[in-house]
Amino acid sequence: MISMLVTGGCGFIGSNFVHYVLEHEPDIHVINLDALTYAGNLANLADVANHPRYRFVHGDITDRDIVRTAMQGVHSVIHFAAESHVDRSILDSGPFIRTNVLGTQVLLDAARAAGVERFVHVSTDEVYGSLGPSGYFTEETPLAPNSPYAASKAASDLLVRSYVHTFHFPALITRCSNNYGPYQFPEKLIPLFISNLLRNEPVPVYGDGQNVRDWIHVRDHCAGILTVWKRGRVGEIYNLGGRSERTNLQLTHALLEALGKPKSLIRYVPDRPGHDRRYAIDCSKSERELGWHPAIAFEDGLRQTIDWYKSHADWIAAIRTGEYLQYYQRQYGSLVHDAS
Ligand code: NAD
Ligand code: DAU
Repeated sequence: MISMLVTGGCGFIGSNFVHYVLEHEPDIHVINLDALTYAGNLANLADVANHPRYRFVHGDITDRDIVRTAMQGVHSVIHFAAESHVDRSILDSGPFIRTNVLGTQVLLDAARAAGVERFVHVSTDEVYGSLGPSGYFTEETPLAPNSPYAASKAASDLLVRSYVHTFHFPALITRCSNNYGPYQFPEKLIPLFISNLLRNEPVPVYGDGQNVRDWIHVRDHCAGILTVWKRGRVGEIYNLGGRSERTNLQLTHALLEALGKPKSLIRYVPDRPGHDRRYAIDCSKSERELGWHPAIAFEDGLRQTIDWYKSHADWIAAIRTGEYLQYYQRQYGSLVHDAS
């Protein structure tokens, strides 16, 4: 039995990953270390809370004592925990530097001290900056982060790199494009728009709606991370992407159509400051070297995701309260209806 420490397992991708590992890897015991910030939700893992190969530890990755204790006997670390929303990093970058940079450093030191054998740092294509109408991010693309979120992730990537170089620390880095799927917090485009539309509320499209993102289903991302953990080479970076580029407006129209809602629900709101125009991932290295491929077609994945949100009204309702409503008001104000 291998002991795997997953950080941020109560968030969107982390909770999908914990489910994925418990389903597919009978010889892995998962320890989930999560601070339960606004984005962390115990309900995401309620169905496995008593699973014999799962244990939850409530704690902050910047807390050296908690991390040192959680790391005891751990073979591998999969590091998801982060502040993850670009718009929140524009409102206040402080928590992003604290968790994403300092938290990663604390984890790296504790993992080194504990003799961890493999450390996968889950990063993002946003570290590469923005593309024009053509071309793709490869693992060789120079880092050019544009938002405070992206800058904090790039800083953490470079810290990981330095530990590999200086200490021969056994780390690998993944950089993935935009994820979608179940359990995504409704501050990100797809779950925000679905949950608003289910209530016949308007959806806020930034700028001209022509920004492009490359969408990947979260289960394909989880499979990619597990493949990198199994077969990746220490010190290497692996891009993961969905080969599914869409403009935000194309995506918005697809959501309206799938939910049978009118285009009049679209609200064009002022653009995100510093808004990256286009992301597109070249994931051929991961495909060639590791045999991983994104397998879920975007149309199928989107339909399943809409169905999941439709059938989880209680999950959405529990989030759309308190802190969420304050954030919504601060971010969107009177540009769109109140989210309550
Ligand atoms: P999320 O915001 O849904 O979840 C983050 C989780 O981390 C939450 O459970 C939260 O409680 C926990 N957390 C935050 N600060 C913590 C701290 N100080 N100590 C312990 N736990 C803490 O994020 P997500 O979308 O699931 O993203 C997970 C990771 O994947 C992040 O590192 C992100 O940069 C990366 N990533 C995300 C995407 C995407 O499209 N969402 C794409 C590529 C990479
Ligand atoms: O590319 C990977 C990244 O994808 C991850 O590293 C981040 O953690 C994740 O949040 C995501 O970042 P984005 O900023 O691309 O995702 P978001 O869902 O916030 O926005 C997607 C696009 O939709 C982007 O062009 C901004 C636009 N948008 C977003 C929101 C929330 C809108 O037009 N209106 C909105 O209300």
